[in-house]
Amino acid sequence: MHVDTLILHAAQLITCASPNSPKRGKAMQTLDNIPDGALAIAAGKIVAVGTTAQVGSEFTADQVLSAQGKVVCPGFVDCHTHLVYAGDRLMEFEMRIGGASYLEIMAAGGGIVRTAQAVRNASVAQLVAESLPRLQAMLALGTTTAEIKTGYGLTTQSELHMLEAIGALAQQQPVTLVPTFLGAHAIPAEYQADPQAYTEQVIQEMLPAAAEWYRQSLFPQRGLPFFCDVFCEQNAFSLAQSQQVLSAGKAHGMAIKIHADEFTSLGGVGLAVEMGAVSVDHLDVTTVQDFARLAGSSTVGVMLPAVNFNLGSTHFASARAFLAAGGALALSTDINPGSAPCPSLPFVMALACRYQKLSPAEALHAVTINAAHALGLGHWVGSLEVGKQADFLLLQTNDYRALAYEFGGNLVAQVWKAGKQMMG
Ligand code: NIG
Ligand code: FE
Repeated sequence: MHVDTLILHAAQLITCASPNSPKRGKAMQTLDNIPDGALAIAAGKIVAVGTTAQVGSEFTADQVLSAQGKVVCPGFVDCHTHLVYAGDRLMEFEMRIGGASYLEIMAAGGGIVRTAQAVRNASVAQLVAESLPRLQAMLALGTTTAEIKTGYGLTTQSELHMLEAIGALAQQQPVTLVPTFLGAHAIPAEYQADPQAYTEQVIQEMLPAAAEWYRQSLFPQRGLPFFCDVFCEQNAFSLAQSQQVLSAGKAHGMAIKIHADEFTSLGGVGLAVEMGAVSVDHLDVTTVQDFARLAGSSTVGVMLPAVNFNLGSTHFASARAFLAAGGALALSTDINPGSAPCPSLPFVMALACRYQKLSPAEALHAVTINAAHALGLGHWVGSLEVGKQADFLLLQTNDYRALAYEFGGNLVAQVWKAGKQMMG
């Protein structure tokens, strides 16, 4: 059979294969690794995966490439980002070095609402111009699919601007983007005295406008979902308010996510399970009981160790406890100007291996197939399996473990998106 492209002689072809569901618990340790591996690609999709001997004898192609000495693995999926924003929070970085905590800075009128000020003053074009280089940096580091949240507008108009910026970015560059509406990210300054009134505003005005934006956007045509998320945290949204917002999101046909247990446990994990959330994210202070509950559900648990690292914390989410309970774990950067100015999933893997005691195999599953499931895209990206989109990387190493072992550099030599080489 004749195809578009053959990639032969990968030192290791790491498929991260896991048909139909994320990898859970112990299964995350077992990585599908084909020595002298090969891929056949036609019309942007994978048509065969196997050894060079198998695939090379069955297929001819317009383009035949040797990955001699290199690892081939799936493109990374960054399932939790706040990539679109304006300005920076360098001042708060210095305040934290001086001893102020993230929550103290937030309570004193800094944090998310400071970025909201900058975003409200920015045009859509400016949001796109500031965010595009960050997305390009992520692509060069191997990210081929990324979620992006709103949540720095905190007015209907400004949240819509953020959504428009996400739509524009989706058209201007190759990374597949998934939009998430996070109007319930922070209580804006003008509603500080009445958080419930802001919650009502999110439900009655912002959510319907966001749902209408999605219907008119390119995302449904591309088969990409729209999520509703909420920051369930002290001084942000209570459990009851989180439930109100997410129920309204569901009523608009949106899939749901929750930021839960970052600093305090308000019961967000239980809510995520009850409401059938696709993922629940952070999990820094989650109890063993809640990990067990989460592991028994179909909701993916997302951990974000770049946040702990950036906030100078020595406490990290208990990945081992979650895996021992049989959970499906994903890792993500959470790239944002306050708690994680980090574009690199390999760096997140490096942190997770050192501080959360994941093996390199577990960490790789957590940024590929499981992260794809955390976006409801497990059928499409996140692993090298027949029928899936041909999103893959060539790494400048002959052993995948180097991805988590090395840090501070970039082992990604080539990035391929839907069968086309984008970088390298
Ligand atoms: O995921 N936790 C809430 N939101 C972000 C922080 C955003 C910011 O500080 O600007 C997070 O950590
Ligand atoms: Fe976040």
